Amino acid sequence: MDKLIIEGGVPLTGSIDISGSKNAALPILFAAILSGEPVRLCNIPNLRDIHTTLSLLNLLGCPCEYDEGRVTVTPGELLPEAPYDMVRTMRASVLCLGPLLARIGQARVALPGGCAIGARPVDQHLKGLELMGARFELEQGYILGRCRKLHGARITFDMPTVGGTENLLMAAALAEGDTVLENAAREPEVTDLANFLIACGARIEGQGTSRIYVSGINSLRGVEYSVMPDRIEAGTFLAAAGLTGGELLLRGCPVNELESVILKLRDMGMDIDVLPDGVLAKCARPLRCVDVKTEPYPGFPTDMQAQIMALMCLAEGAGVVEERIFENRFMHVLELVRMGADIRISGHTALVRGVRRLTGAPVMASDLRASASLVLAGLAAGGTTEIRRIYHLDRGYEKIEAKLARVGARIRREKE
Ligand code: EPZ
Repeated sequence: MDKLIIEGGVPLTGSIDISGSKNAALPILFAAILSGEPVRLCNIPNLRDIHTTLSLLNLLGCPCEYDEGRVTVTPGELLPEAPYDMVRTMRASVLCLGPLLARIGQARVALPGGCAIGARPVDQHLKGLELMGARFELEQGYILGRCRKLHGARITFDMPTVGGTENLLMAAALAEGDTVLENAAREPEVTDLANFLIACGARIEGQGTSRIYVSGINSLRGVEYSVMPDRIEAGTFLAAAGLTGGELLLRGCPVNELESVILKLRDMGMDIDVLPDGVLAKCARPLRCVDVKTEPYPGFPTDMQAQIMALMCLAEGAGVVEERIFENRFMHVLELVRMGADIRISGHTALVRGVRRLTGAPVMASDLRASASLVLAGLAAGGTTEIRRIYHLDRGYEKIEAKLARVGARIRREKE
């Protein structure tokens, strides 16, 4: 396993190119199963989760390979099984459920277990697919799904679920008749998936709102499509500029999709300007703590909670961070405290009091965004920070140490 070694205290200055979005690329790769023709995707980030997905697509009968950010998926004779040892490493594998049922009327997908940040059930996915005519049973930890032909339905989610909306969107694209998704997730990655499906010929309206209409059609054509940039990677680097007191130009940074994050960072005192060639973030004065509540889009994203908490550790005053989406997404807190942060957890809220400095320490990554917050803290801390188990980080950040080193960070990867 690898680890990252960071010598903190260097203000980051320069420009960083934002990669394609992991959370848009994953559902779009699974959606390629729906097309009967080759699909060419670009701006696909070089990440562990992407390669896990490509391995699964190959297993399902859709030969594909990765070449410099480009992937061609050639749907063949589809097979129904997503094995446990693949699903357990990546929960998003459950997104093959809708496409398989839509294309071949059967699926055998390992039930994704919980993960570090919560139980993360898939009941909303199954409920919606059952309303469309699928029948499920659970056998030895696998979801067995069958249907003659999916039909349209009116589906109201108990809560806005990104994966649930994506699974049902893909299933509805090829179902018989019309589907309405109520209380749908509005995340930009869901919209990107809908735009990809529309490019393949799907009839979808309302994407980006909480009510999405789909009129099912018989087949989808092949297409060439470029995936949106990663708003969470961009938000993470905005926080890096704030924490190190530097100045970073983020090329290809999605602005509208990051509005809630940019507003919060400006509230903290950062200067963030939208320029023709990117977003310029700088931190010319001491930051101040703010209160943050994570919400479904367009609210403040849960995937930026750990990163803004790291930023608040060195800001003036105190702020309350409330995690409203997942039940256990404070795994980064105790590691930040080991670096000198003053954070008190009470249930789903954390009280952060800014301190004058953080000190480097050996710390342990636990999940993707917690790892990112430890990298941010290490960049600002005095001394050396050693971050173990960074395979979590490699799931969602493309070449992060190279990108950071290019703007002045003293960071290197070593074999543990
Ligand atoms: C997606 O996960 C993202 N992953 C997550 O990003 C992100 O944190 C999350 O959406 C919320 O924005 C991908 O897109 C691959 P949900 P997902 O279904 O779809 C509950 C990262 O760091 N729920 O929107 O799994 C669930 O427990 C990852 O990149 C049910 O109860 O999230 C949670 O409390 C982490 N039943 C809430 O809904 C269901 O059937 C939101 O989950 C489905 C969800």
